[in-house]
Amino acid sequence: MTATRIDVIPGDGTGPEVTAEALKVLRAVSQRDGFTCELGNYDLGGERYLRTGETLPPSVLAELRTFDAIFLGAVGHPQVPPGVLEKGLLLELRFQLDQYINLRPVKLFPGVETPLAGKRPEDVDFVVVRENTEDLYCGVGGFLKKGTPEEVATQSAVYTRKGCERCIRWAFEYTRRRNSPKKTLTLVAKTNVLTFGHDLWWRTFQEVAKEYPDVKADYNHVDACCMWMVKTPEYYDVIVTTNMFGDIITDLGAMIQGGLGVAAGGNLNPDPGGVSMFEPMGGSAPKYTGQNVINPIAAICAMAMLLEHTGHEPSAARIMKAVQHVTGAKMKSQAAGKMGYGTREVGDLVVDSL
Ligand code: IPM
Ligand code: MN
Repeated sequence: MTATRIDVIPGDGTGPEVTAEALKVLRAVSQRDGFTCELGNYDLGGERYLRTGETLPPSVLAELRTFDAIFLGAVGHPQVPPGVLEKGLLLELRFQLDQYINLRPVKLFPGVETPLAGKRPEDVDFVVVRENTEDLYCGVGGFLKKGTPEEVATQSAVYTRKGCERCIRWAFEYTRRRNSPKKTLTLVAKTNVLTFGHDLWWRTFQEVAKEYPDVKADYNHVDACCMWMVKTPEYYDVIVTTNMFGDIITDLGAMIQGGLGVAAGGNLNPDPGGVSMFEPMGGSAPKYTGQNVINPIAAICAMAMLLEHTGHEPSAARIMKAVQHVTGAKMKSQAAGKMGYGTREVGDLVVDSL
């Protein structure tokens, strides 16, 4: 069996600490299940930028294309101005590798506290499929008369038929595969106001839905969706949405599943030969760096997602089971510094539970 080649970008702040725990779990599960991994390591992030001025050098990008998958810890550095690493590294990776799906499960694990009164793990279990390459993220816009009282700024949302169709089709396939009793795909958009861009999404959704008569095709405006996510999260099975709305509702999703300490996601290029990237949703948390207090559960779940998407489904399921044992029976809280254990100890607990 050939080795799975994983490129590791630990990144900034607490990124390296949570990455170390995800790799610890990877080593343990690969030994147990008998597969091998070959790991790359790239020092992309704030430190490298401050040292060299580079965010994603073309030579590194070319090497990344040769891996089976990428694991990313966190990017974000207090000395680097906002936007530099976000656009120059994270979004650049998503765009250059054409990772057009951002897959974000919202699942409340046993023992994890949700701010939603009375909701149990079976009530909070849905998945957001966020388009990941278009919309307001495309960087189209500009200034006119910058710095004057007459200043004009534009920021355009770009939607293409190809971009929304491939995302919507993937989401229908995913809903069919997930095969929950609800078997419902909800398009979340704002067709009542964004009457051009989201009309394209709406029409495409209706057309693609015809190919999936076994999946219930449903629609919510994004503002209503925020309401229902809090009031009746049990309503949702799979949500498909645009890049910007997906960004916003998945932070809400992260909170109702217990916080950024447990929320993981995958940036997928599902095409043949595509390279996908998996990351905990939380940032680099500079104030917690180096203290062994940050929660590694999200990073460990991101590693499980990586394994699921590289042909190691049983190992991924084993990790997810171990994580749920640890959150349910061991950890006091999912908040940094309140877990009842240190970062490394939580990693050890997951390894022991595999
Ligand atoms: C996320 C983040 C990024 C995004 C930022 C850091 C560019 O918020 O992964 O959700 O907006 O996509
Ligand atoms: Mn976000």
